[in-house]
Order: sequence, then structure tokens, then C-alpha cells
Amino acid sequence: MADLLPALTGRFACREFTGKAVSDADLQTILEAGRIAPSGFGMEPWRFMVVRTAEARSRAASACFNQTPATSAPLLIAIIALVDALRPDSAYVQARLGAEAGGGPVPDELKAAYRGFYEHADARDWAIGQCNFAAAQMMGQATSQGLATCPIGGFDEAALASALNLPAGEVPALVLALGYCADRQGERRRKARQECWQEHQHSA
Ligand SMILES: Cc1cc2nc3c(=O)[nH]c(=O)nc-3n(C[C@H](O)[C@H](O)[C@H](O)COP(=O)(O)O)c2cc1C
Repeated sequence: MADLLPALTGRFACREFTGKAVSDADLQTILEAGRIAPSGFGMEPWRFMVVRTAEARSRAASACFNQTPATSAPLLIAIIALVDALRPDSAYVQARLGAEAGGGPVPDELKAAYRGFYEHADARDWAIGQCNFAAAQMMGQATSQGLATCPIGGFDEAALASALNLPAGEVPALVLALGYCADRQGERRRKARQECWQEHQHSA
């Protein structure tokens, strides 16, 4: 099995894209990497909206305050969090729990566990958090295909929801700008390992 670390190390937030188009085959592979992402309770509370036409990209980019990655990318993938669908009695949740249960009847314990989780969770924040797993997988995959990405969380939520024609109960989680980078990867700035890795110490 190939090592993933080179793609993760090679990923960087590309701030300006060339005009070169992304092929459908590349796009589909990247979307697939998102589709198979893990999620709590197998809820997959996302959909990925490909924003392709110049007009739609321009409206979405404007909601992202016209940041250069959004205005220059030939494609945007809006990752949309399905918030209202997470209500315990929704048909969506029944279907997802059914899938988690292997297609058979949903065990009462699973239903109760989900309901207990939902009562204590902030569904909106939780759904957005799940979406970020899908985004991370898509970005790693895109890098391995020689493409560049920029995750864009800086947007006006209401303006972006309107630009994407989202129904009530769905919110934009993140926009991925996708294409070929006009820049090169800059110096990687990260906390030192000793600052973020630690062994748990037992107290006496
Ligand atoms: C959730 C999230 C939101 C982000 N939003 C923006 C953004 O709105 N605009 C932008 O230029 N970069 C954005 N970034 C990119 C970060 O600035 C970048 O990942 C960080 O500086 C580290 O650089 P690197 O990704 O090149 O390693 C975002 C990254 C994440 C994970």
C-alpha cells in the first residue's frame, strides 16, 4: 500500500491558481475520496457541490470576500453540512442508522445512543466538524494527483448559502478551491513536534 505522508506533506494552501481546467476523471476521484470519509454514527452529514460555471463561481467567490484562491480557481467544491437532517426522527437518520446496522432493522440501543448523542450535541457545529474530515481526504487525494487546493472557511455564511441556493437546514461548511497552482509551496510553518506530541503521564 502506498505511503500517504508524501501527499499530506505536499499539500499546501494554494493562494492563486492557473486557469488550467481540472479533468472530470480527476474531479471524480477527489469527490470519491470525500465520499468515503469517516463520520460519527456513519451519518455522513454532507454533500459536495461542484461549482463550475464562471457565473456561479463568481457569486460563490464574492461570498468568500473575493479571496484570490476563490476567484482564480477553475473549480470550487462547496462542502455542505446537512444540519436539520440530523434530527433523530428524520428519514435521513433512519436511513443512515439502517446502513450502519448493515441494512437490517436498527437495534434499539443504536437508536437510543444516537438520540442521547443528539440531545447533547450542537448539531450545526458537529456537522461542520464532520465535513472537515471529508475535506481533508479530498485535499490529500488532490495533492497525490498533482492538483492543488485551498480550504476556504472565510466566507459570509448567509451570502454563500444564497449563492449556492441551499435549502433551510443546510449550511456551507467549507469551500475547497481546486486546480493547478500558480505558486509553489512556501516554507512550511508548524509547531515543533515536542510542542504537539506528548506521552500521557500517570500522576502518582
Ligand atoms: C478550516 C480552514 C479554513 C481556512 N480558511 C482559509 C481562508 O478562508 N482563506 C485562505 O486563504 N486560507 C484558508 N485556510 C488555509 C490556512 O490558512 C492554511 O491551511 C494554514 O495557513 C497552513 O498553511 P498550509 O495549508 O499551506 O500548510 C483555511 C484552512 C482551514 C483548515
